[in-house]
Amino acid sequence: MGEPLIRWYRENRRDLPWRQQPSPYHVWVSEIMLQQTRVEAVKPYYQRFLAALPAVKDLAEVPEDQLLKLWEGLGYYNRVRNMQKAARQVMADYGGEFPVTYEGIRSLAGIGSYTAGAIASFAYGLPKPAVDGNVLRVIMRLTGDDSDIMKQSTKKQVEENLEPVIPADAASDFNQGLIELGAMVCVPNGQPKCGACPLAGMCRARMEGRIEELPVKTRAKERRIEERTILVFRDGEKTAICKRPDKGLLAGMYELPNYLGHMSRKEVAAYSKEIGLMPVRIKKLPEAKHIFSHVEWHMTGYEVRVDELEKTNEKGFLFIHPEEIQERYPIPAAFGSYLPRS
Ligand code: ADE
Repeated sequence: MGEPLIRWYRENRRDLPWRQQPSPYHVWVSEIMLQQTRVEAVKPYYQRFLAALPAVKDLAEVPEDQLLKLWEGLGYYNRVRNMQKAARQVMADYGGEFPVTYEGIRSLAGIGSYTAGAIASFAYGLPKPAVDGNVLRVIMRLTGDDSDIMKQSTKKQVEENLEPVIPADAASDFNQGLIELGAMVCVPNGQPKCGACPLAGMCRARMEGRIEELPVKTRAKERRIEERTILVFRDGEKTAICKRPDKGLLAGMYELPNYLGHMSRKEVAAYSKEIGLMPVRIKKLPEAKHIFSHVEWHMTGYEVRVDELEKTNEKGFLFIHPEEIQERYPIPAAFGSYLPRS
């Protein structure tokens, strides 16, 4: 399968920013981002991240708030904290140069077999597999395998079977070919474009009429639903935000004050007074939803106008101008619809 796949990739590859100079650092940054969201959405994040942090050393040294700000909106913030941990490992243990073996790369914080395989093969041409969900889908269809792709054992098996098939002189194009095939031809939603597939002639799923059935993927556990009330305390100019704890969901990010359950206007008024903020006017804001991996926030919000914010600091609130929040404070996308713009 190697030869037609590689030829197809060389002729059809998209010109993506991270394919231009595939250094280990570039591949790493792009692959972690691509685990979060779509190619088109990653592009501006990728450019901005590398402009701010052009080398591993910069990532190792950047203050956390600035780092989280660069990641704002991508989600799974622990991934970027792990990247900083790994960057510090590279500085401390490898003299600032990325490790050159698969095992060395794999030993870094937050780098699993997929990312290690991607870095090793795209940047160094090492014949190691890079199997993500897209590649799993392609392989399951090609081989007519109905194993559950949500199982770690399935991924491990595919990695083992794939490794000896990777050509030593074209590991990068082989792996990227599989990824590109999964993205452009053997697509996750809707009909795969078998007419454009270089491997259609050897595809078991196609021969057996089982394309619709494969891959087999058990449903993930349902998300818990959490009701939350978001409070936007404002005086004429500033807004109250606070820092989340250093552990757990959205660790270390900043947020608008928010509370479990849907509060009534009366409860909001009483609570505001309790923490020393005199509400002048309370305005109900629209409801909003945000989906995290394991929990869904169903939010309601109130804008609470107060005469003077800085009278209280019982709750560790910070009182910041909206423009400064925008510029400097990493705020999870969940709060996006409640953040004052100015
Ligand atoms: N999805 C995951 N990795 C990718 C890559 N390197 N190029 C395009 N899409 C991807």
